[in-house]
Amino acid sequence: MGVGSTLYRTWLQYNEVGENGFRGMYRELLGRIVVAGESSGAFAAALRELELGAKSMLGINPEFMNAAPSSGSYLRIGIKTGEASSGDRAVSAWGKEDEAFSLKRFSTDDSIRLELTGGSSSGVLYGVFFLLRAIALGMNPQELAAEETPVNRLRMINQWDNADGSIERGYAGNSIFYEGGEIVQDTSRIRDYARMLASVGINAISINNVNVHEIETRFITEEGLPEVARVADVFREYGIALFLSINFAAPLVIGGVGTADPLDAEVRQWWAETANRIYRHIPDFGGFVVKADSEHRPGPFAYGRDHADGANMLAEALEPHGGLVIWRCFVYNCMQDWRDRSTDRARAAYDHFKPLDGKFRDNVLLQIKNGPMDFQVREPVSPLFGAMTRTNQVLEFQVTQEYTGQQRHLCYLVPQWKQVLDFDTHAVTSGGEVKNIVEGSLFGMKISGVAAVSNIGNDECWTGHPLAQANLYGYGRLIWNPDLSAEEIAEEWARLTFGNQPVVIDKVLHMLMASWSIYESYTSPLGVGWMVVPHYHYGPDVDGYEYSRWGTYHFADRDGIGVDRTVASGTGYTAQYFSPNREMYDSLENCPDELLLFFHHVPYSHRLHSGSTVIQHIYDTHFAGAEAAEGLGMVWSVLKDRVDAERFEAVEARLAEQAEHAKHWRDVINTYFYRKSGVPDEQGRQIY
Ligand code: GCU
Repeated sequence: MGVGSTLYRTWLQYNEVGENGFRGMYRELLGRIVVAGESSGAFAAALRELELGAKSMLGINPEFMNAAPSSGSYLRIGIKTGEASSGDRAVSAWGKEDEAFSLKRFSTDDSIRLELTGGSSSGVLYGVFFLLRAIALGMNPQELAAEETPVNRLRMINQWDNADGSIERGYAGNSIFYEGGEIVQDTSRIRDYARMLASVGINAISINNVNVHEIETRFITEEGLPEVARVADVFREYGIALFLSINFAAPLVIGGVGTADPLDAEVRQWWAETANRIYRHIPDFGGFVVKADSEHRPGPFAYGRDHADGANMLAEALEPHGGLVIWRCFVYNCMQDWRDRSTDRARAAYDHFKPLDGKFRDNVLLQIKNGPMDFQVREPVSPLFGAMTRTNQVLEFQVTQEYTGQQRHLCYLVPQWKQVLDFDTHAVTSGGEVKNIVEGSLFGMKISGVAAVSNIGNDECWTGHPLAQANLYGYGRLIWNPDLSAEEIAEEWARLTFGNQPVVIDKVLHMLMASWSIYESYTSPLGVGWMVVPHYHYGPDVDGYEYSRWGTYHFADRDGIGVDRTVASGTGYTAQYFSPNREMYDSLENCPDELLLFFHHVPYSHRLHSGSTVIQHIYDTHFAGAEAAEGLGMVWSVLKDRVDAERFEAVEARLAEQAEHAKHWRDVINTYFYRKSGVPDEQGRQIY
């Protein structure tokens, strides 16, 4: 990167720093860089990045030296032991301390001497990105000090890219990894992506869709692996371990074994050999991501085995090499009948996996979506968090905006993720927040963390909507340190991306922070979810999924709406939570408004805590939401001459589409409920 358009450079703009950004002092500091020990791997990448940043922001070419000069300013960089770097961290170790860094000032006179120390080459790389960020943010070099250790060990991105170049739920063009069934020859864009990810602390990536098709099933063969290894080489340089999504039926489909039964000796042997083969090509391979027995993907159920049998079989094969099995919990009955009121998709992950707690090997992690359903604009937190105390876990978010406007609408998701991380499961008397569970030490997990589905593609700006870059940036920053606030992250991103002009920061911050709530207000109400066009998931279709087999119903009729998930009269889902969450959700009185229809079926006349009836709330929020969406465009228009034309226009066009489309949502939803309920809007506004 460092070259290309402002759209392409995302938050790594490295714009020239002026005198009020301490240019002079930074030029002195970075003019001489003392490198302690041998630098290779991520350490070398860090030095290259520093060189690029110094040239671009400060107009200097740093002089790299082995020994400290006797006087004047300089930056000293090294690895904690003071020893030469042995290259990259041992991926299998996943040690947080290795990824830590400190930045300390040690001069006493007027000169600025800083010492950057990483726990390993990865730590150095994170420290360098910290320093470059500080320069871009205009921080005073005299006041720089840092001592950072990532909170989560596994900080992962999942690509849902397919070998044909398409991306499942991708809204920013085609894949940067694949074209026409092959891995791209020119990996320079992948390298730029690795830089972006490393700059926010990501340390793991799976490079293919969880739905593994024919070509990707062969990535683990002798023919496929040299190609995959080329990609692993790129990510390794940036301290990022490469994972593959695998096809559970691979021994059957490509191995000539005749079965994929996890307890079959030949199958186990096939996976063991496959693991050996993989590690011959990629010695620090991260492991497998597995979607099994989910939405028609093959899995252990076909052989009468359970998920522990399936995951452990793969784990056994990877274990000698230090690899991990990340097994997804997105398992539910996708052949439901809406008349069957006892089956509840929300219950499924808990019902399947809770009984298996403690049965998984040490190198298995269960990957759990943040909510019990599927990345809706509003869902409660998955009750599986806290319910398993003897199993490694990964929380899964979706950065790609499948149900949240597909990067045509603005929806800054960090506030939503923050709510999930801060949610108190009450699994323990105090400290049972989701962030403490996935951090790992609460239940003594061997390895744990957070993963998310990426939102990037080969669009010039990577993310379709230029402001959607904030979600990728924010995801990395938030899981590095879940105690950062959504505002802090948004402000950092806005400054790095657009520069430090107060009015720009102010407006962008305002837009980002308002966006989730705006999006929610004109789409599906009160936590009930969906109401989108089937398959595409963009745009309103209230009954689109209502009579289908996917288990995603709102049950609206002429009298009321919502899903009864209570213990007394509903599916009993609320009982999956610990007290007092269980009672709170179970009670019509205490259930928070924003989740009311997720947990209860109520008449349209039901009064919310806000004082409004359900039907009036639907009308009010949809009118207000469409108006607020239009307002976003007006806020942005103020920045016309303050943001370069390319980015200004790209955002402007998206916001115009959002404003129009929000009106469409408003009208479809309002009309539907007016027609169903027969209750007019108190304010007599136009309903079609
Ligand atoms: C959603 C999404 C699918 C995806 C699935 C998953 O249902 O619509 O495209 O495959 O999640 O997470 O596996």
